[in-house]
Amino acid sequence: MPTGTINILAIESSCDETSAAVIQNGKVLSNTIATQKVHERYGGVVPELASRAHMQNIVPVVDAALADAGVSKNEITAVAFTQAPGLIGSLLVGACFAKAFAQALNLPLIAVHHMQAHVLAHFIEDKPEFPFLCLTVSGGHTQIVLCRDHLNMEVLGETIDDAAGEAFDKVAKMLGLPYPGGPLIDKYAAGGDPLRFKFPMSEMKDYEFSFSGIKTSVLYFLQAQRKIDPDFAEKNMKDICASVQHTIINMLMAKLRKAAKELNIKHIGIAGGVSANSGLRKAIKEAGEKYGWQVYIPRFEYCTDNAAMIGITGYYKFLKGDLADMSVSPTARATWA
Ligand code: KG4
Ligand code: ZN
Repeated sequence: MPTGTINILAIESSCDETSAAVIQNGKVLSNTIATQKVHERYGGVVPELASRAHMQNIVPVVDAALADAGVSKNEITAVAFTQAPGLIGSLLVGACFAKAFAQALNLPLIAVHHMQAHVLAHFIEDKPEFPFLCLTVSGGHTQIVLCRDHLNMEVLGETIDDAAGEAFDKVAKMLGLPYPGGPLIDKYAAGGDPLRFKFPMSEMKDYEFSFSGIKTSVLYFLQAQRKIDPDFAEKNMKDICASVQHTIINMLMAKLRKAAKELNIKHIGIAGGVSANSGLRKAIKEAGEKYGWQVYIPRFEYCTDNAAMIGITGYYKFLKGDLADMSVSPTARATWA
């Protein structure tokens, strides 16, 4: 195992956040995130605009991360970057930067899987015990992951169509809300009645999820109601948001409870952008009390995309000697566990 101070410079650029972090011996010294506002008006991330924004942001973001950490580039031990999955143009910007940085300073390179990093975000502050069960819910993925060790993970099940975050964002778009709609649905839901409107829960086998059904049923529901009253959505925004959120959380929690019970695991966490959702955070806390789980909920800045989680994953990979060589290239899709 390497000795002395280990400073990892981490780069995340898989979607619409340009982020850099410095991790010293497994502790976060800085975590700089530039969120791209350019996508708001399009109702979703526009890949080409994301790549261009990463190009503009990457150097200042890395500079800021080094300055915040008080670590110079000559003190960096290794460079970690998101290799997959994500938008290929966005990934390429981070990968090229990381490779150039590593090449120029003759540093080792570490390729990180974004979904593994979302899970390991839990190890930035807490140290969950193994076996650890993680529900990872983001804009692109919905997975139940069994972690036997930091780098030994198994995806027990995932969505067969839309991700939970995508369902939040698409419903938000139908309601006329800007992208990303998840946080806005969360906000409106806080003041609404979750039982006012009923939406169907998908019945999937094993640990699989499906969110395309709820999206379609909200679409038809809104179309029908808007024929009667064109302002239906605006007038009932809080109750619609609360009811949709309630249904999505119920689907997520049902599978998490099933996995916890069947595998008899008591150390359980949520990760990914949707784990910032206040309803989901409350639901897992309540389940923890009811079933005697030790529950792990990341701080908000470690829920959505950030380089600190890439850095902590890079740190564990570095300790294991799991390094990449200069021929490594990013991939849009990648299985990992
Ligand atoms: O993990 P993340 O930042 O990016 C991906 O890897 O996809 O997740 C982004 C997703 C978006 O769909 C966004 O709407 C959702 O997380 N999200 C939320 C909340 N905050 C972010 N969804 C529901 N409630 C929130 N508070
Ligand atoms: Zn993510």
